[in-house]
Amino acid sequence: MAESMKGLKRSHRCTEVSNKNIGQTVTVMGWVQKRRNLGSLIFIDLRDRSGLLQVVFDVDKAGQENFDKAGTLRSEYVVAIVGEVAAREGAVNPNMLTGDIEIKAQELRILSESLTPPFPVEDGINTKDELRLKYRYLDLRRPELQKNMMLRSRLTTMVRQFLSEEGFLEIETPTLCKSTPEGARDYLVPSRVHPGSFYALPQSPQLYKQLLMCSGYDRYFQIARCYRDEDLRADRQPEFTQIDMELSFVDIDDVIDYNERMLAFLFKECIGVDVPLPIQRMTWQEAMDRFGSDKPDVRFGMELKDISDVVADSEFAVFKGALANGGTVRGINAKGQGAMPRKKIDALVDFAKGYGAKGLAYLSINADGTYKSSFAKFMKPEELDGIVARLEGEPGDLLLFAADKKSLVWNVLGALRLELAKQLDLLKKDEYKFLWITEFPLLEYSEEEERFVAMHHPFTMPMEEDLPYLESDPGRVRAKAYDITLNGNEIGGGSIRIYQSDVQERMFEALGFTKESAHERFGFLLDAFQYGVPPHGGLAYGLDRLVMLMAQVDSIRDVIAFPKVKDASCLMTQAPGLVDEKQLEELSIAVVSQEEEA
Ligand code: AMO
Ligand code: AMP
Repeated sequence: MAESMKGLKRSHRCTEVSNKNIGQTVTVMGWVQKRRNLGSLIFIDLRDRSGLLQVVFDVDKAGQENFDKAGTLRSEYVVAIVGEVAAREGAVNPNMLTGDIEIKAQELRILSESLTPPFPVEDGINTKDELRLKYRYLDLRRPELQKNMMLRSRLTTMVRQFLSEEGFLEIETPTLCKSTPEGARDYLVPSRVHPGSFYALPQSPQLYKQLLMCSGYDRYFQIARCYRDEDLRADRQPEFTQIDMELSFVDIDDVIDYNERMLAFLFKECIGVDVPLPIQRMTWQEAMDRFGSDKPDVRFGMELKDISDVVADSEFAVFKGALANGGTVRGINAKGQGAMPRKKIDALVDFAKGYGAKGLAYLSINADGTYKSSFAKFMKPEELDGIVARLEGEPGDLLLFAADKKSLVWNVLGALRLELAKQLDLLKKDEYKFLWITEFPLLEYSEEEERFVAMHHPFTMPMEEDLPYLESDPGRVRAKAYDITLNGNEIGGGSIRIYQSDVQERMFEALGFTKESAHERFGFLLDAFQYGVPPHGGLAYGLDRLVMLMAQVDSIRDVIAFPKVKDASCLMTQAPGLVDEKQLEELSIAVVSQEEEA
């Protein structure tokens, strides 16, 4: 039986009622969290997105009919209650925002009944992810997720406020586009009117925002939905949101300045955290050398140390072999972990192998200064001492080494460093360490495609001093690209763009595009740039990642209202799904089933 709310108007959200309202009559509406019958009294906890409020029914105040109705209430019923605010007669609950008051009910209306939910709507419950995602609308009632969604809303509001005040215009760009060159796979949308042709959903508004600069809009931003068909991880979704911006007549320092001030503003306004400015900057080369990562977590040290020179003449086949193949030998110092049991070290070796290492050599320094090591027997004492000195090893430390080609060693030790930090509990979620990574390589060689590909995208400006090498030594050219990282996460990235057609043409050549193929894909941009284009650059944040870190949760799923799971499906709506034969016909699409193909 659903009653109407005719004649009633909500006067307060649950936690908007306080001891200042004692004696007043209020009308509250929300969900029944739980009901307790205490003989002549019935208590309910009423919940809305603001929090909980205690309501008490007694026959005298509420009347027999309302009292009896209250006795039928069950969890998740939606009710309207009119009553008087009173100081709590029973014990004050210090854990509840409204713990010192209660509502003495005079009227109750059951607006909607509820089935028994498949899991209790409260935080800290041990419910399987699959079930929670299937009933996402119930999961979203939990205070934790509601808090995350409110934080997200606050963040976008503050972004709009900051950027508007700085003279940025919010402009929407299409989501039915030509493929944009961001490097991931596109999601395609078939065209009915043009059989056999497809739109691509944007991987980012990159080309449009550059065109807007060409059109004189000067400073643009957008809270933009982006789509990338790539393998999902905890920090990746097939559709996600960017805070996207582009600025004219700027160089790197200008873009960084706006963004540092914006980050400081957002962290202060959204979670009360002070971000000291300026934010530290580090070149890509330094980040890789010191941390083995282009998004290093600098909340802790454990830096990589190169020992190639120290072991150059050693007899240890593993080190010798790696160096002979042009590789490198590097290590990290797990401070104070010298007593780590063999089993745990073996687990680290397996972890390293998971990242492609052939093995992991270790050396622990005993309390008396002697060494225990998987490779000491192949080394001269002075070589061992040299290694220990390079890693600043002290009694009680555990040193771990990888020998291989440089990129693999970076990758392995970078990951190992993070894994150890997790195990040793060195990562504090409420500590925020920002870091700009600059001077990325412009190009990286793709073994798969057997050509150089753009590390950022093909419109990124090379550093002026490296331009002469674009043809002769493409691998050494650095880009005017920058990422902003936070606690080991890439939260944003951008670059200064090429605006000179001769440089753009050289870039396309370096990427192996012919003039024709470049024009086929990006002709409209190249044409536009012939009509007066300002120097420009920009940046885009992963909004979901930013909220995830602000909310101190481990997955962007927890800050997206309706996220997808690992195989890019939605457990609630069952998307993607099959469509009618008729729809396919209209789109001139025939589906080859995998069975048929086989
Ligand atoms: P980029 O590709 O680095 O740059 O993307 C910008 C930021 O978006 C976030 N991000 C994602 N978040 C969730 N799920 C994903 N699948 C995902 N992919 C990326 C990251 C990343 O830093 N057009 C350029 C920006 C520019 O040059 O101005 C771009 O899209 O936090
Ligand atoms: P092996 O000679 O294969 O028995 O390896 C001797 C030690 O070196 C073991 O502790 C291995 O885990 C380690 N090891 C093997 N390959 C590598 C490598 N590429 N880098 C670092 N250590 C390695």
